Amino acid sequence: MKYNATLVGRVEVAPGLDIMRVAPDAQPFEFKSGQYVVLGVKAGETRVAEADADGPSVVPGESTDGTPESRVAVEAQAQAAAVASADPDRMIRRAFCIASESKAGEYLEFYLTLILSGELTPRLFNLQIGDRLYVGPKAEGIFTLEKASTKHVLMIATGTGLAPYMSMIRGELGVGANGRQGLRAVWQCNGTRQFVIVHGARHSWDLGYRTELIGLSRHCSNFHYLPLVTRSCEDETWRGRTGYVQDLINTGVVERETGLEIAPENFDIFLCGNPGMVDSVFGWAEARGFTRDKGREVGTVHAEKFW
Ligand SMILES: Cc1cc2nc3c(=O)[nH]c(=O)nc-3n(C[C@H](O)[C@H](O)[C@H](O)COP(=O)(O)OP(=O)(O)OC[C@H]3O[C@@H](n4cnc5c(N)ncnc54)[C@H](O)[C@@H]3O)c2cc1C
Ligand SMILES: NC(=O)c1ccc[n+]([C@@H]2O[C@H](COP(=O)([O-])OP(=O)(O)OC[C@H]3O[C@@H](n4cnc5c(N)ncnc54)[C@H](OP(=O)(O)O)[C@@H]3O)[C@@H](O)[C@H]2O)c1
Repeated sequence: MKYNATLVGRVEVAPGLDIMRVAPDAQPFEFKSGQYVVLGVKAGETRVAEADADGPSVVPGESTDGTPESRVAVEAQAQAAAVASADPDRMIRRAFCIASESKAGEYLEFYLTLILSGELTPRLFNLQIGDRLYVGPKAEGIFTLEKASTKHVLMIATGTGLAPYMSMIRGELGVGANGRQGLRAVWQCNGTRQFVIVHGARHSWDLGYRTELIGLSRHCSNFHYLPLVTRSCEDETWRGRTGYVQDLINTGVVERETGLEIAPENFDIFLCGNPGMVDSVFGWAEARGFTRDKGREVGTVHAEKFW
């Protein structure tokens, strides 16, 4: 497996939270808004200095728990992991949602969190503009707006779970990541179809894309942006909404913003990011008659869990 793309852009939103732009060698790279692609770098690449040290969770020779049989199995796994992690040419690969508009062209944009204990992100965050990396051959996933037909759309995210919605709203409302507003005639800004983004992050400085989203909400009467932070005690200047996203939607704020009841006849709901959030909001939506989208069995709640 070889490197087949170049890092062409990088903006730090906050320490450990970046927007990166990657240009695949093969152009054009086709995808639908909401899909993800695999990114990779080799195990031999350097990790950012602040990351935890690399290493398998079980070190060969250190397994003492369990039965003799289970110790043999754990030892075999530890040996295999040690051999694999020692190979500098091993490509470490993970899925990432594409944040750029599907027609954006020369690059794919990503919104990434640095996981200090992680395998891939400490290496990704060490890349400089012009460095090479791996991009999977095709975009994947069914977390796309096609699922919502023409209904209103409620998009709920935690952290970098905002990424697929950036692609969706840039495509639908016409503010392309390349600033190409005005090129397409089908954009729905100021149309009757409502788009709502609820985005939860730890602090206000972790609310990536906030300026773009505020601008879009001022420009398009049918777009509503509801950011909130969970650690307001560490963020003294924040005067906005606080708490978990599920607490916010329980207050009826989306109904007040849109003038519409959140019901399966009106809305499709998209959930992306922290699995705890996805499960909680799904329970809330299910109680209102929404059903989970299972691919062939189409539903009204569409979810992408990041882990
Ligand atoms: C379909 C899909 C799309 C994804 N899109 C994105 C994306 O757009 N942006 C992004 O930052 N990540 C995204 N992820 C997560 C990403 O694939 C990796 O899991 C993440 O970058 C950590 O990789 P790592 O090798 O550094 O950590 P690993 O060694 O793989 O450790 C993973 C652990 O880190 C934690 N973790 C993983 N991702 C996150 C996260 N985003 N926020 C908080 N904790 C996390 C979990 O505890 C997980 O068990 C996506 C995952 C999936 C399945
Ligand atoms: N600036 C950054 O965001 C940043 C920078 C460097 C490293 N990291 C690392 O990246 C990892 C992920 O951090 P993250 O903040 O991006 O992602 P996250 O842990 O998924 O948190 C994102 C937001 O979701 C909230 N949340 C957590 N559980 C929830 C639930 N069950 N329901 C609803 N909301 C929930 C979090 O609140 P609470 O956490 O307050 O409960 C936070 O506001 C961590 O290891 C972190 O140290 C993050």
